[in-house]
Amino acid sequence: MPPPLARPGHDVVPLYGEEFAADPYAVYERLREYGDVAPVELSPGLGAMLVIDYRAALDLLHDPVTWAKDPTGWQDALPQDSAVMPMLRARPNALFTDGEAHTRYRKVISDSFARMEPHELRRTVQEVSDNLIANFGLAGEADLMGQYAKLLPLLVFNRVFGLPDSMGELLIDGIAGMFDAETPEEAAAADTAYTRYIMELTGAKKHARGEDLTSWFMDHPAGLTEEEVVQQIVVTLGAGYQPLSNLIGNALSRMLVDDRYYGNLSGGALTARDALHDVLKNEPPMANYSAHYPKRDVYFHGVWLRAGQLVLVSYAATSTQGGRTAPGEGAGATGSGGGAHLAWAAGPHACPVQQPALLIATTAIERLTAWLSDIELTVPYDQLKWRHGPFQRGLVALPSRFTPISPDQAGETPWKSSPSSSTPSDAISTGRPTAYGV
Ligand code: HEM
Repeated sequence: MPPPLARPGHDVVPLYGEEFAADPYAVYERLREYGDVAPVELSPGLGAMLVIDYRAALDLLHDPVTWAKDPTGWQDALPQDSAVMPMLRARPNALFTDGEAHTRYRKVISDSFARMEPHELRRTVQEVSDNLIANFGLAGEADLMGQYAKLLPLLVFNRVFGLPDSMGELLIDGIAGMFDAETPEEAAAADTAYTRYIMELTGAKKHARGEDLTSWFMDHPAGLTEEEVVQQIVVTLGAGYQPLSNLIGNALSRMLVDDRYYGNLSGGALTARDALHDVLKNEPPMANYSAHYPKRDVYFHGVWLRAGQLVLVSYAATSTQGGRTAPGEGAGATGSGGGAHLAWAAGPHACPVQQPALLIATTAIERLTAWLSDIELTVPYDQLKWRHGPFQRGLVALPSRFTPISPDQAGETPWKSSPSSSTPSDAISTGRPTAYGV
């Protein structure tokens, strides 16, 4: 019979609350005294084992014979209203299935993204970036999370899934609202908006296909049912939104405190791509995930694990096992803290959208720093607030100031540069104040 989870004399370490959000890396260091796998709590009373060793993580992620992604047995005994359940509960999509079902769902997603032309995706991101920058460029100050990094992925997704910009705000109300909801009423309103968005999207494409992801999901040779299409759209939007906004936000925050990136008008020696790699290695936007369940009792890297118990992989702890480059610190030989990382996970469930995600993030950062050449933080880096919770590493806000730009100034501006930007504000804002500041 396997022994209990935590060893005598050791407390289970929480991956939630103020202390963890303020300095998760100190917590990961404390966890190392347990060895390769450590007992943690994801929310009060909800325990899990966390893989914090790089090789142990690879052993798990590449072994679908021992490990399942389907949480069906595990979740039955748990309170369904726990804050972390939406990230863990079984659903018929790529993330929570194994074997043939998983291969079929995943292929629809990766084949469809592969059909997107990179130069068209880049142009889409440029247009969305320009529209957003035009909304705050005059003000000389902005919260680059709320007004940029959080909105941009959703407005890009809205376009690549095939709806006009006028529908972008419904998606923002729905999906960003779900992540930001602080009361049950706000969560319910966001859920209603999201359901409406998905119905509008699938309704529109059912009768008139286009050159977009929704149509490609629908027409994929895998022959998904309508319900299966909806499930893969929902997981794609859900899996893409927060990691992508965190990737952009974490990279921008590092660039703004490091002269090698963005020190003066002509720019520093390092590029947006360097900053993104720096973040993937040292501040991965998904910090802990890859929920897996052993199919049988198993002795794994020094601990007995019970069949069906929850085990997560810490991309943050494994990627920084050999040391971590903090923001503003000198980086490794590549100038960006080289070395392997697991920010995209690995194995059969590794992120299938890595290249498009990098392209979107790179373009978003390049566009912003090209239009606004002197952005600076308005609070010191070490006073920035990080979101709470075990799964993500992302900023609550990124307050900044810069020299204002206006539509009247000589030369190119974000108001004039994009073919679709003649009415940028109308396209992405109703004019009412929202949590996102547009
Ligand atoms: C365009 C943006 C993105 C989209 C559409 C997207 C989509 C997805 C999808 C559909 C999966 C599930 C794959 C499967 O189970 O077979 C996935 C997994 C994953 N993605 Fe992404 N992703 C995006 C960006 C990112 C970013 C920026 C990161 C972090 C750097 C990231 C990290 C991951 C990780 C760690 C997994 C594995 C999760 C797990 O197995 O529990 N993704 N992504």
